[in-house]
Amino acid sequence: MDIKYLGHSAFEVEVSGKKFLIDPFLVACPAYKAEGISDIFVTHAHGDHLGSAVEISKAANAPITAIYELANYCAKKGVLTNDIGLGSWREYSWGRAVAVPAFHSSSTPDGIYGGCPCGFVFDVDGKTLYHAGDTALNSEMKVIGEVYQPDIAMLPIGGKYTMDIEHAVKAAEWLGASEIIPMHYNTFEAISVNIADFERQIREIGKIPRVLKINM
Ligand code: NI
Ligand code: MN
Repeated sequence: MDIKYLGHSAFEVEVSGKKFLIDPFLVACPAYKAEGISDIFVTHAHGDHLGSAVEISKAANAPITAIYELANYCAKKGVLTNDIGLGSWREYSWGRAVAVPAFHSSSTPDGIYGGCPCGFVFDVDGKTLYHAGDTALNSEMKVIGEVYQPDIAMLPIGGKYTMDIEHAVKAAEWLGASEIIPMHYNTFEAISVNIADFERQIREIGKIPRVLKINM
């Protein structure tokens, strides 16, 4: 499995020659070319997560997986969708994924209700990967830790709209993941952090901070 960071909360994950995108907001990575994408996952409808999902979906003929209301919104824009609710696995050609709770809000850039926000757990290549979306620290992370036992967790750390570093460290403990990939920081002034603080605090609890460079 190869994980490419596209800035903010956007990732391209490649597994057995197939690729999927998560929250493709590409402001930090304008030169990125979406090629060979099989699926696109969107955690919630805010513009910094929906990003270029509709455009890429159309160009690649790749369905958008999202919570029912957001999937319907995307379907009205003329793209293929896989609508999901929280809590059951959906099978893909490269593995499987389940939507899990996130504590946040969700409306589209034009103000339409986007259903509940979510995170995703991916079962790929013998590894379990958790992308938290935008969320506050919450006790569901204990459940996610117990039920899905993620190996790698992508956690927001920028504060203001989501968890900050202190809460992300607590989330990392509850989730039990051994590698923590930070996201949703330093894109804007309001979510700026000193990434060295994150690295130090994650090491202090015996986990690996995996700070990815934005990959153009
Ligand atoms: Ni948001
Ligand atoms: Mn956000």
